[in-house]
Amino acid sequence: MQIKKVGVIGCGLMGRGIGEVSARAGFDVVVSEVNQQLLDKGLAAIDASLAKGVEKGKVTEADKAAAMGRIKGTINVQDFKDCDLVIEAAIENLELKKKIFGDLDKICVKDAILATNTSCLSVMDMAAVTQRQDKVLGMHFFNPVPVMKLLELVKTIATSEETLSAAKAFGQSVGKTVVTAPDVPGFIVNRLLMPFLIEAVRLIESGLATREDIDQAIVLGLNHPMGPLTLADFVGLDTAYFICNAMYDEMKENRFAPPVLLRKMVTAGQYGRKSGKGFYDYK
Ligand code: 3HC
Repeated sequence: MQIKKVGVIGCGLMGRGIGEVSARAGFDVVVSEVNQQLLDKGLAAIDASLAKGVEKGKVTEADKAAAMGRIKGTINVQDFKDCDLVIEAAIENLELKKKIFGDLDKICVKDAILATNTSCLSVMDMAAVTQRQDKVLGMHFFNPVPVMKLLELVKTIATSEETLSAAKAFGQSVGKTVVTAPDVPGFIVNRLLMPFLIEAVRLIESGLATREDIDQAIVLGLNHPMGPLTLADFVGLDTAYFICNAMYDEMKENRFAPPVLLRKMVTAGQYGRKSGKGFYDYK
């Protein structure tokens, strides 16, 4: 099937990035939020990101205006009815996501593909509440979406090859390199990333190395753009904690168990960059 109109549920950090790259690639886009205030905030953030693209010479003023013109904001889920692809980027709560998939299944045209941007939850659990399991898959984008080149496509045991190839064509048309990942907690990237991040937290927790030395070692020794503690702050410590717990709950393997320090920081509201404090101070 040919994808022309794309729906994005959620206009937070990930949803707005997915909306932005889709509109820039020429798709008609509908983005939704739970209320008008959050929707306005999300749309303003898309505009600001495109303005940054203009400033950096990656986007022209005309392309920015055209992209914004292709994006329609809504707080009404019925507006997804004629989308060919809907990507859910709501908060990481399986029950909420299942409810969204159940609603979309009733509202959307029968051929529409339903995707989730979940970072770690079971895609099959979302597919199972629909009457179109073959048309459900994971489309896991990376933050910041306009800049990161990867898209993980998560194929469940029920996803059809036709759905996978339509999603692959879409991913490539929004400028991403696509990999196919299994429907296991963390897929490929977070399966490898989270043990790495929490091992850095364990080094701090046990007082064996400083945050600066850990980060500098990885930036200079492995050529990563950010050290693991800076990256954990960037991803959000609450998000990293959630993903580790989801992986641990499903697999019961200690390597995924979040360290106590991470839990305490999350409890203290130290979420990293978004809250102004994590392993580093951002105030
Ligand atoms: N559209 C297009 N291009 C844009 C843009 C936009 N809206 N905004 C910025 N850019 C371009 C810039 O022009 C620049 O391009 P250049 O390298 O060719 O000059 C590039 O994007 C980088 O932009 P900045 O100069 O603003 O930023 P930095 O160079 O400081 O890099 C960073 C910032 C991209 C965040 C970099 O530090 C990085 O790659 N960090 C690691 C990020 C990462 O690992 N993300 C994945 C997190 S894990 C995840 O998301 C999964 C989840 O499930 C947890």
